[in-house]
Formats: sequence, structure tokens, C-alpha cells
Amino acid sequence: MAEEKKKILYSGMQATGDLTIGNYLGALRNWMTLNEEYECFFGVMDLHSLTVRQNPAEFRQRARNLFALYVAAGLDPEKNCIYFQSHVSTHAQLSWILSCYTYMGELNRMTQFKDKSSKHADNINAGLYTYPVLMASDILLFQADVVPVGKDQLQHLEITRDIAQRFNGIYGDVFTIPEPYTGKIGARVMSLQDPTKKMSKSDENTNASVYLMDDADTIRRKFKRAVTDSDAEVRYDVVNKPGVSNLIDIYSATCGKDIKDVEKEFEGRGYGDFKMAVGDAVANMLTPMQERYEEIRKDKEYLDRVIRANDEKAFYFSNKTLRKVKKKVGLTEEIR
Ligand code: TYM
Repeated sequence: MAEEKKKILYSGMQATGDLTIGNYLGALRNWMTLNEEYECFFGVMDLHSLTVRQNPAEFRQRARNLFALYVAAGLDPEKNCIYFQSHVSTHAQLSWILSCYTYMGELNRMTQFKDKSSKHADNINAGLYTYPVLMASDILLFQADVVPVGKDQLQHLEITRDIAQRFNGIYGDVFTIPEPYTGKIGARVMSLQDPTKKMSKSDENTNASVYLMDDADTIRRKFKRAVTDSDAEVRYDVVNKPGVSNLIDIYSATCGKDIKDVEKEFEGRGYGDFKMAVGDAVANMLTPMQERYEEIRKDKEYLDRVIRANDEKAFYFSNKTLRKVKKKVGLTEEIR
């Protein structure tokens, strides 16, 4: 009997800043959980990163580091298509076409655009504004069934679905309508210094975020200093105890324990013990990945080989969708 065709999973991260445990628990870890079940495509989203000014030499390194990190986290580049968005020209092309099917009114509603333009008031560029159209193109080019992301990206998934439905409504079933996937815990990891704000790689206060490359001592120190409240009870209550609740979330996402069980485990033990345990758990989760990362990052030949093969695969796959779209909208066929 012919093997059943797997459904398609698509996701990616920007190659900007140092990744945090928010990126890991909110996205990367779910990619691994779903890995076997789906045919997976993961982009290093370097075109999206250009919406903020980058130092070219540093940026080049960061993009390659991100590729190596995906692999170190456990995504096998021989089984998963991991590639650079900027190496695959179909993204920019579909993005232009879809921008002609996206309304300014829709883009005006995007909270990430509002946030980022207030943070970078000196550089509110058109790319920042049309960012969601490029993201929609990433996803739709690969006919993705599912897109695992953290909660902050759900609005971008909604606009992706709206654009796809609009396009399909005019031209027939061109695009698969993607479903977002967020994990039950870890979908919104908050800052350790201000638990009402999400943990972000662009936070200026480095104590607010735990980076994937932080060493074990730094991780423990950051959790020790995490903002909590004055009563010493380890109890989950996001409204009244946002700091402790965030730590419980992180601990339970890291160890795979239920929130109720975490509360029981630390009953009557105070915050000191609890913070130490969270720090240990996170350090133990990250150390093996950091070691693999160092190995992979050094192996230029291996990286070059898998990058080349996967860029080609991504182009081949996505170009099928692009050609269909071009035909549907009435662009003339290329004569080669
Ligand atoms: P980016 O690079 O900001 O974040 C990458 C992934 O990490 C998740 N994430 C979090 N999850 C939980 N808690 C947090 N504190 C936290 N911070 C970040 C994000 O939700 C995301 O899943 N636009 C995207 C990149 C992108 C993309 C795509 C994603 C471009 N094209 C196509 C999926 C499909 C972004 O900026 O993610």
C-alpha cells in the first residue's frame, strides 16, 4: 500500500538578536514534538530581519548561527527542509503579488507593527508595514497545513488565512488554509523583570531574558533575581501573582509537569528553593543543545552541504505554488 502523504508544517524565526527560552518553549520545542508527524519546512527568516537595521557582518553570522541552532535543537536537516528565506527567490515574488491582495486597513490593525514602529520611531519603513504579507507568503508558498508559533504571532496567522481565503475566493483552491498551533504551556513566556511583558530578544535589560546560549550560572542567577511578589506561596494566579505564575509556566513547560503538581511539589517551600529548581531545570535543558551547537557551528563543510541541498528543495517546492499563482493572476508564461 502506498504510504500516506504527510501533512505540511511550516515555521521559522527571525535571524535577529539572541534567541530566548521564549522562542524555545513557544516555538522550537513544538517543532520537535510535531516533527515526525509532518513534512517540515523551517525558514531562517533573514528578509524579515531587514525591517530593522542590521550590522551586515554580524547579521551574516547570526543567520548562520540560527541555522546551526535549529539543527542543534534536534531538527535533522536531512529530514527537515531548513533553509534561508533570502536564498529562495519565490518568497519576495509571492510577497509582491499578495501585497496587491491585502488591504491597508488590515495591515493598520497589526499590533506588532504598532509596537515596532513605536520602538523604532526613526525607521518606520514600508517593510515593517508589509511584514505580515511576506510572512503570509512564506506559509502559503509551502501549502502549510499547520504553523506552530507563540501567541504573539497569532494575529499574523489570522491575516495569512484571510489573504489565502480572499485569493482562493477569486481564483479557486490555490492555497491550503493554514491552522496555527500553540502549545498549552510556554506559548507566552514573560519577562523575568516585568512579568506583564513578553520575554523578548530585543529587551535592553539582559536580566529580563534567558538566552539559549547563557551558561548554567548565568541562568541560575537570572532566575534567582526574577521579579516575584512579597507573599512566598508558589501558587498559579496570573492576575495577582504574574511573576511566580510565569516561573511556574517555565518550570512546567521545561519538565513536562502539570501546574497543579508543581504547586504541590513546592508547597511550603518558599521562593528561594523554587527559583533554584527552575534555574536548574532550564540549565539542564539547554546545556546539551549548547554543546551540540558548538560542534555543528564549527563544521563548515557539513553546514554548506545541507544548506545548499535544502535551499534547492525549498525553491523547487515553493516554485510550484508560485507558478500556479502567476498563471492564475494572468502573468504571461516565461519562455526559456
Ligand atoms: P520571532 O522571530 O519573533 O519569534 C520566533 C518564534 O518564537 C515565538 N516567541 C515566543 N513564544 C513564547 N513566548 C515568548 N516570549 C516568545 N517570543 C517569541 C514566536 O511566537 C515565534 O513563533 N514573524 C515571525 C517569524 C516568521 C514566521 C514566518 C513564523 C516569519 N515568517 C512564517 C512562522 C511562519 C517572528 O518574528 O517570530
